[in-house]
Amino acid sequence: MHANALLAALLAPAAVSAQLNDLAVRAGLKYFGTALREGAINSDAAYAAILKNKSEFGQLVPENGQKWDATEASRGTFTYTQGDITANVAKSTGQGLRCHTMVWYSQLPNWVSGGSWTRATLTSVIETHMANVMGHYLGQCYAWDVANEAVADDGSWRDSIFYRTFGTDFLPISFSAAKKVDPNTKLYYNDYNLEYNGAKTNRAVELVQIVQSAGAPIDGVGFQGHLIVGSTPSRSSLATVLKRFTALGVEVAYTELDIRHSSLPASSAAQVTQGNDFASVVGSCLDVAGCVGVTVWSFTDKYSWIPETFSGQGDALIYDKNFNKKAAWTSISSVLAAKATTTPPPATTLITSVVTTSTSTTTPAPVTSSSSSSSSKPTSSAPPTTALAAHWGQCGGNGWTGPTVCESPWTCKFSNAWYSQCL
Ligand SMILES: *[C@@H]1O[C@H](CO)[C@@H](O)[C@H](O)[C@H]1NC(C)=O
Repeated sequence: MHANALLAALLAPAAVSAQLNDLAVRAGLKYFGTALREGAINSDAAYAAILKNKSEFGQLVPENGQKWDATEASRGTFTYTQGDITANVAKSTGQGLRCHTMVWYSQLPNWVSGGSWTRATLTSVIETHMANVMGHYLGQCYAWDVANEAVADDGSWRDSIFYRTFGTDFLPISFSAAKKVDPNTKLYYNDYNLEYNGAKTNRAVELVQIVQSAGAPIDGVGFQGHLIVGSTPSRSSLATVLKRFTALGVEVAYTELDIRHSSLPASSAAQVTQGNDFASVVGSCLDVAGCVGVTVWSFTDKYSWIPETFSGQGDALIYDKNFNKKAAWTSISSVLAAKATTTPPPATTLITSVVTTSTSTTTPAPVTSSSSSSSSKPTSSAPPTTALAAHWGQCGGNGWTGPTVCESPWTCKFSNAWYSQCL
């Protein structure tokens, strides 16, 4: 075997699947995750099989089960039946858990939203809710969304019982209360439409600064990522927005990603655009050091909140209704794979020793004798300077300037106009 091929073979991770979480971890993210629909997991075996596959999804988040209306519908009566569905799956599979959500104006029982509160009494309500619900899941949550959607779409502060009672003080009060209950989870602010870098984004930056300057803890900002095919910002624009937050010392993540078609059925061109849009989002996370992961808001078009909320729109996810992988799945796997194969492996001592061993023990085959040597492999005749793309690596596509030939035994397979991959 040629020294370069040997080196490439040794550096190529053995027996690693091309499933999304495995690729995401190899690309430097902490996870690729999905929301879990509580009403489907115990009745749809095909859904459960994919959702529980840790190679595909490394982290789960309950779609509804931990929200206030599901956990404390009546004051002081706590119910974990729905929230435990996701937590129990994560426990049994070893998948991680994202926890969602505490202080939010929506799916909030009327006894809270319609109550008549002072700062002291509403603080007590928040603290009691957190002590119970966050206490119930203590030690299980990678992150908790402490405050959700506190900014209105025009960039003003969103009207809510919390804002009306406290002004913006409910933010540091909530983050501090959460820290007291669970000092080890990442405390997140979570919102949608931050991706467009407009007035709403500016206000969310201010929100982080308000919490920080009050001396309260905040660890992360979740970009929900409820986007629209053809209107998704570019990869570089998205990275720019993410960096506005990491510059404040918090991590970021895409927490509820879906990219909906605004009319159905989607043409094949629209499906390619959807794939490109998913690639932009996931790629932007790879481009920003403090972006830790991506969560899709369910993975199949069979179970999505979009058609229920936006009539006539949908097909926003990465598997179709019959659990076939869509172009969007391929685009995401391709972007992750490209980064996975370009990230320097951590085992630098191994690389050094392999290079040394190869050069000292491998006699380069003289070019002139290649036809007479029965042991020469055809691959040895390639010029040593020709790099080969590794398994899972990119080998073509618009703008690609890297290798276009795959190392043996892989071949370069066309995915779409901007991406071919060694498979
Ligand atoms: C996860 O899915 C992949 C691809 O379908 C499969 O090869 C692998 O065996 C699955 N893992 C488990 C634990 O089911």
